[in-house]
Amino acid sequence: MKVLVVGSGGREHVLCWKLEQSSKVSKLYCLPGNGGIESAAECIDIKSDDINGIVKFSIEKEINLAIIGPEAPLVEGLADKLIENNIKVFGPEKSGAKLEGSKIYSKEFMEKYDIPTAKYKKFTNSDKAKEALKDFKPPYVVKADGLAAGKGVLICENKTEGIRAIEKIMEDKNFGGAGEKIIIEEFLDGIEGSLLCLVSKNKIIPLESARDYKKALDEDLGLNTGGMGCFSPNPLFNDELKIYLRNEVISKIEDGLNQEKIIFTGILFIGIMIKNNKAKVLEFNVRFGDPESQVVIPRLENDLYEVIQKTIEGTIEEKDLKWTDKKAVTVILASGGYPVKYQKEKIINGLENIEDDVIVFHSGTKKINGNYLTNGGRVLAVTVLAESLEKARKKVYNNIKGIEFDNMQYRKDIAKL
Ligand code: AMP
Ligand code: GLY
Repeated sequence: MKVLVVGSGGREHVLCWKLEQSSKVSKLYCLPGNGGIESAAECIDIKSDDINGIVKFSIEKEINLAIIGPEAPLVEGLADKLIENNIKVFGPEKSGAKLEGSKIYSKEFMEKYDIPTAKYKKFTNSDKAKEALKDFKPPYVVKADGLAAGKGVLICENKTEGIRAIEKIMEDKNFGGAGEKIIIEEFLDGIEGSLLCLVSKNKIIPLESARDYKKALDEDLGLNTGGMGCFSPNPLFNDELKIYLRNEVISKIEDGLNQEKIIFTGILFIGIMIKNNKAKVLEFNVRFGDPESQVVIPRLENDLYEVIQKTIEGTIEEKDLKWTDKKAVTVILASGGYPVKYQKEKIINGLENIEDDVIVFHSGTKKINGNYLTNGGRVLAVTVLAESLEKARKKVYNNIKGIEFDNMQYRKDIAKL
């Protein structure tokens, strides 16, 4: 089968790494891919927002299955266009992708189907939003409605910061059209968890759990990032929480999708805030998480192509999924200054020093004349599977010592429970 993966990050590297191991995949392409993905797939320089380019390429190459990594092309309707051309797609159509594409839509969906989430109000006018801060308690959570590359959520300690956040989004238009509407919501405390699920024609099957570390610096200090490290499984997902999630979240989402006549196929990543074995939904993402994928997919023992194929057909069942008992840890090596301002094109040294059973997924690299150069904020994800979390963690950090690039930054406390 000819398979196409769309995207260029660590998430797409792990997808290609796993698909390359499938005997069913005869040819693997990645658009546009990155320096590391080149070792698993043929990378073609068509960007993931070039919807027409991707469709044309898929028709020309007679692609049998397209797997769409990032949210933006899903929200733009890439899946719809490929399906119109009889290409099988793993990733929701526009109607399902709206669960990530509009925070207001996702909150209304949660409200309508009684899914636990933070209380909120929506606004289209900045003065009204500022006035309404008095109805909330600090810290204030202000969110742009549309996609903002993971940066559209501002958590504000006091009213002055809250007003500034509303101005930045609605008046200064820091996130362009994504900030025409906003929501202000109740701040939730607890511990965050990532629940990635396969969705097979609206049947939701949770994958193994993971814990992401979103803040840039140790001890959860600094700015929010796309994720600086991750481990799986996450012990917070005990039986009591799993039952709660099945009854109060997953079943209600299934019901909502059916009632709204949305047919969803792909990944639904439910971001939750956990407290006392209960949880509230923070957000929906309609694609694999990054760096969640780097710890969850390596623990899957099945052939990923077969799993995806059955998910699209609607025949997959939870018992089909086989997981290793090993624990996985990944630590992101990022460019100094990330998530704000950082430099690119720094030579990465030491990748040859890595032990054989350590996997280095590339998040933002390019390969020039045999050298890997940095090409993004998040650069590499160093990943280990081991009998215990502690062993995996130690091995990751030992191997990181051998890797080096100018201004490399990483957290030292990933998976330190
Ligand atoms: P979202 O994109 O909605 O998940 O928000 C990004 C991040 O902001 C989340 O991963 C949380 O760390 C934080 N966050 C979002 N909403 C809330 C909330 N209501 N209370 C506390 N933290 C939040
Ligand atoms: N790690 C969080 C995300 O992928 O959105």
